[in-house]
Amino acid sequence: MTSPIAHFNGELLPLDQIRISPLDRGFIFGDGVYEVIPAYGGRLLRAREHFNRLQRSMDEIGLANPHSVDGWIAEVNRLLAHHPGNQSVYVQVTRGVPPKRDHVIPKGLVPTVFMMVSPLATPSAEMVEKGVACVSARDFRWEKCHIKSTSLLGNVLARQISADAGATETILFRDGWLTEAAASNVFIVKDGAVAAAPQDEHILLGITYELLTDLAREGKLRFDVRPIAEAEVRAADEIWLSSSTKEVLAVTTLDGKPVGAGVPGPVFRRMHALFQEYKARLSAASAVAD
Ligand SMILES: Cc1ncc(COP(=O)(O)O)c(C=O)c1O
Repeated sequence: MTSPIAHFNGELLPLDQIRISPLDRGFIFGDGVYEVIPAYGGRLLRAREHFNRLQRSMDEIGLANPHSVDGWIAEVNRLLAHHPGNQSVYVQVTRGVPPKRDHVIPKGLVPTVFMMVSPLATPSAEMVEKGVACVSARDFRWEKCHIKSTSLLGNVLARQISADAGATETILFRDGWLTEAAASNVFIVKDGAVAAAPQDEHILLGITYELLTDLAREGKLRFDVRPIAEAEVRAADEIWLSSSTKEVLAVTTLDGKPVGAGVPGPVFRRMHALFQEYKARLSAASAVAD
């Protein structure tokens, strides 16, 4: 099989031909930030929001952005031209390659930019219909989860807890409060009202989270952003996961116990329909633009 075309520091070349220095601070320290952007039929979903978040992550770690938002979108589209269909675009910027390993950040480094594309694996019809299992764990990650950092060891170890249990995600609680899941945001529904955890440094503010917020408003759902106690999650009628690749997914068991009636609930079904309509509008707009 030929290696897919990827992007490395402005060049398009086969993924298996990219060589990264072992001194790259991304490799040595996880000193970098990233984005994952879904593309439906060549059309990026919420590209500006993703690159604005990349800017916020870079600002948080004091990394100069090599591109404007429009520059990033142009670079991604150049790469996407090689990848028709529905795709997931991975964009990573690290602090670059210093002459030696040192925690202290040297001045004047040139950031390393890497992008690759893989087929977008959205949830199967069965996952949407039946919902998924989750387990819970203490949120043992650091205090800057709002940065979309490539230092993902905490998230990797958290996700592995559910993988080992044969579950789809690990829902995390910090000091008795819901934060998010290892690679998704979490919503609950009680008595028809949707709630999401606050947009603070304990969660990554998902682009899908923001999209669901907009769709909830459009669909006139009751929606609140507020601290959510662990007990409320365990007593919720519905729990949802959201992310760029999961879209919105119902959680039907948590730690082996049914969530609500143990099937995807009515508010989830409404939100899922709103999400699919949003995607259809995006494709229609893209067909007009083409
Ligand atoms: C920790 C974490 N929270 C939330 C999300 C959801 O973010 P988005 O909707 O932008 O994909 C992700 C996505 O991978 C994530 O890794």
